[in-house]
Amino acid sequence: QLEKSLRPQYFSQYIGQDKVKNQLEIFIKAAKLREEVLDHVLLFGPPGLGKTTMAFVIANELGVNIKQTAGPAIEKPGDLVAILNELEPGDVLFIDEIHRMPMQVEEVLYSAMEDFYIDIMLGSGDGSRSVHLDLPPFTLVGATTRAGMLSNPLRARFGISAHMEYYTDKDLEEIVNRTADIFEIEVIDNAALEIALRSRGTPRIANRLLKRVRDFAQIMGDGRVDKLITDKALTILDVDNAGLDYIDQKILKTMIEMYNGGPVGLGTLAVNIAEDRETVEDMYEPYLIQKGFLMRTKQGRKATKLAYEHLGYVYNHED
Ligand code: ADE
Repeated sequence: QLEKSLRPQYFSQYIGQDKVKNQLEIFIKAAKLREEVLDHVLLFGPPGLGKTTMAFVIANELGVNIKQTAGPAIEKPGDLVAILNELEPGDVLFIDEIHRMPMQVEEVLYSAMEDFYIDIMLGSGDGSRSVHLDLPPFTLVGATTRAGMLSNPLRARFGISAHMEYYTDKDLEEIVNRTADIFEIEVIDNAALEIALRSRGTPRIANRLLKRVRDFAQIMGDGRVDKLITDKALTILDVDNAGLDYIDQKILKTMIEMYNGGPVGLGTLAVNIAEDRETVEDMYEPYLIQKGFLMRTKQGRKATKLAYEHLGYVYNHED
């Protein structure tokens, strides 16, 4: 019996990101044909778009094991050495948030990526010595929310880089239906599309909203997720009909009400909504830009006419 897990295991089960999938499929086939390791892969994109899932799919398609860690978890070169030491030939090493590795760790990674060895210093001062360690060939899969945050030497060592995009409504609808199927949730009445439209192009959000809507359906209805209960639940959850959540709306309202639509600096915005800069820049801003609600200018962030209209304000600027 084929176990159905929520995370897709192979490209054939992975919905959306066709461009990334099609390219990777070729590179993986070619690497296997030549009996070589796959070149290192860098995955870019906002949180929740399936970068981790993609790393696991890559390992499954290659037929190798995957070891997983994250940039902030690797504090010293020794932590990295411990991880690298456990790799078997051909394995995938997945480093999430790779832009958050300390510089001295990053420097150890260079030779590991390029020539599969590391030189580490043991001890300090007079008694210190350098130890050379050969590594098995491996594939590093790195994930980062921001292209700009990666140093040039690190970026240059990835042979393959792939941009994950926000999902189309149709792909998200399919993902919602797939998840509903796995959880045995009955979704009727185009409710899957409604959830899709309100999930900021992000499967993680779509799956989360589906579960919350199911809660409402079970308590307030007959358990079936229909359009009406979906709309009610999402309204209660402060997800509007453009998929903006409470924070998205607050960002735009702050810009409009307090700064006359901007320009506003990112730091100022972040303080006003009590989030850190990184969160605003990685999680909220990209979607607001893609939807045409926010613009980045040299002077700072500006709310667009569309944002005014969407939130019910009168647009009071020339354009
Ligand atoms: N669940 C979450 N993301 C998915 C995707 N891209 N394809 C299939 N199922 C998913």
